[in-house]
Amino acid sequence: MLIKEFRGVDFIDREKEIEFFLNYFKQEPERIMWIYGPKSTGKTTLIEYIVENYLLKNKDYNVKYINFRGKMIANYDNFVDAFIKPKDSPFFKNLSVSVNFHFLKVDSKLYEGIKKREFDFFEAVQEEFLNSSPNQKNILIIDEIQTLQDIYLNGNRLLLNEFLNFCVRLTKETHLSHVLILTSNTIFLNEIYNNAKMKVTSDFKLIDHFGYEEIKTWLINKDLGFRDEDIDLIYDYLGGSVAHIKKLIDFRNEYSSLQEQLDEMTEIAENEIDFFIQKNTLIKDDIERFQFVAKIIIANGYFDHKKYKGYIDIVSRFADVEILFYDPVKNITTANSRIYVKAFEKIL
Ligand SMILES: Nc1ncnc2c1ncn2[C@@H]1O[C@H](COP(=O)(O)OP(=O)(O)OP(=O)(O)O)[C@@H](O)[C@H]1O
Ligand SMILES: [Mg+2]
Repeated sequence: MLIKEFRGVDFIDREKEIEFFLNYFKQEPERIMWIYGPKSTGKTTLIEYIVENYLLKNKDYNVKYINFRGKMIANYDNFVDAFIKPKDSPFFKNLSVSVNFHFLKVDSKLYEGIKKREFDFFEAVQEEFLNSSPNQKNILIIDEIQTLQDIYLNGNRLLLNEFLNFCVRLTKETHLSHVLILTSNTIFLNEIYNNAKMKVTSDFKLIDHFGYEEIKTWLINKDLGFRDEDIDLIYDYLGGSVAHIKKLIDFRNEYSSLQEQLDEMTEIAENEIDFFIQKNTLIKDDIERFQFVAKIIIANGYFDHKKYKGYIDIVSRFADVEILFYDPVKNITTANSRIYVKAFEKIL
């Protein structure tokens, strides 16, 4: 396992996942690939790393990467603008290659027609893929897909449904492009997973937190003066969550000891749980069922829904606020990250 650099910060190499995706791209597009996992495990970073270090450097691939994060998508127009731009748009002048691949470029007249709804957006984009270089494999990557929820086209046509149908056309039906879709919203993913039609046209890849060895190698490599027992303590409280460990490192000088800092991080997680329970005025039965789930997670590391029935509803509520993580593929629930398990231990 190697520690590399990506955009000026450490990148803990995800060799296995990178190899998985590079092999995947060599195959013909047959299904949509859903990339999912708990909050902040590094889904976006991994895909952007692969795009920048492998795909953009390889002439065999034509990559388009649309990230809806931070984009206000409230209607059809916003969606079109987030996706396509006219080829001769002044927008592309002086832009680096790294921004160019974030949009599909279409002929100006076609763009106008799409905006005026004279042409169907999806047919036009499919046409663009059809006309792209025959020697290149197309790869379309969509991040933060859940942004498209609850948006209607005309009348009662849901944008998301139309978009997913389009993705099925690109993969299963025409094999024109690979389609990768990223999300950390598993309630949303669950709906897809339990939709019989979508399930057969989809693959699912979990990107989870890092393991002990990877975190240990990374922390030793950073040379911050942590002793072996400090690293074990950090892993006990924060698990393989890089995002949480980075935060710990950034603020460690504010505390007199590592234990004090980890206790405070646990308390913040406890408060978050308490706030959620109070804000939603959960009834006694809900709280008890949540406590049961939490107890099992403390004991086993995960809660198996095949074994215990009748908990999906309460799990969904805590998954919505990213305290729990429901994996629809394995049908199990875990804490969204290790710090919540420490918080469960305190409140139970
Ligand atoms: N392989 C890695 N090595 C080191 N740091 C990483 C790695 N992957 C992600 N990170 C760091 O972890 C944080 C979260 O990463 P990122 O935003 O990619 O996660 P995500 O899974 O896409 O999150 P979300 O669930 O919000 O979509 C970032 O600060 C990122 O720099
Ligand atoms: Mg992300």
